[in-house]
Amino acid sequence: MLKAEGLVAGYGAAEEILKGAWIDVEAGEIVTIIGPNGAGKSTLLKAIAGLVPLKGGTVKMNGADVTRQDALGRSKAGLAFVMQEKNVFGTMSVAENLDIASFGNSSGMAARREAIYARYPVLAEKRKAMARTLSGGQRQLLAMGMGLMTEPKLLLLDEPTAGLSPKAAEELFMAIIELNQSGLPVLMVEQHALEALEISTRGYVIVTGRNAATGGGKELAADPEVRRLFLGG
Ligand SMILES: Nc1ncnc2c1ncn2[C@@H]1O[C@H](COP(=O)(O)OP(=O)(O)O)[C@@H](O)[C@H]1O
Ligand SMILES: [Mg+2]
Repeated sequence: MLKAEGLVAGYGAAEEILKGAWIDVEAGEIVTIIGPNGAGKSTLLKAIAGLVPLKGGTVKMNGADVTRQDALGRSKAGLAFVMQEKNVFGTMSVAENLDIASFGNSSGMAARREAIYARYPVLAEKRKAMARTLSGGQRQLLAMGMGLMTEPKLLLLDEPTAGLSPKAAEELFMAIIELNQSGLPVLMVEQHALEALEISTRGYVIVTGRNAATGGGKELAADPEVRRLFLGG
């Protein structure tokens, strides 16, 4: 469903950050990207979402080449990207955050908002509350809900459990599993590598902008080299 190949991208400096990285996601999957800090994992998600310009490579969604499409075009092609930080508007209400995430597509917006409230009742309870008053876990659910407002075919999540307590992180992983079981493939970057790989069909290890390893989630989580490099033993 997603086929990203040979991605080369950076931020204008001499050296590129992504040096040919590739990622596939098939229907029904949860796929996790792990790797050291600064490896280019966030840049990889941004390159897939159309938020950093590509100097090389291709991005295909369900066989359609979206490489030349900007972020809005890729959103229309079914990609939704939830950034790691600043992913909600703190001084706007929960409801306003959901509505603004429709990118001006107001037809059916109320119904889509209600579907998200049904999925995440805590957001319904807090629909009038300012987003900055939410707990970390609730804020992350709101950010995912905003992604869902475009009715994506693939959800990209950048470190969804960053900064959450172990309990909130576990609840968020449960929410990701539940979303996936409702039919939505998920591609995420995670620092909680072991926990994320355990719930993933497959994983990728990215090091200095290149693919270093790939395999089944549980298989990678058990790989001694992966454990030594990323999990502290
Ligand atoms: N907006 C930016 N401008 C310039 N350099 C950036 C920017 N964002 C990230 N970088 C650099 O790109 C490299 C990879 O960053 P990133 O993709 O965020 O890594 P990761 O998510 O794996 O920690 C880092 O060296 C980082 O400093
Ligand atoms: Mg990152």
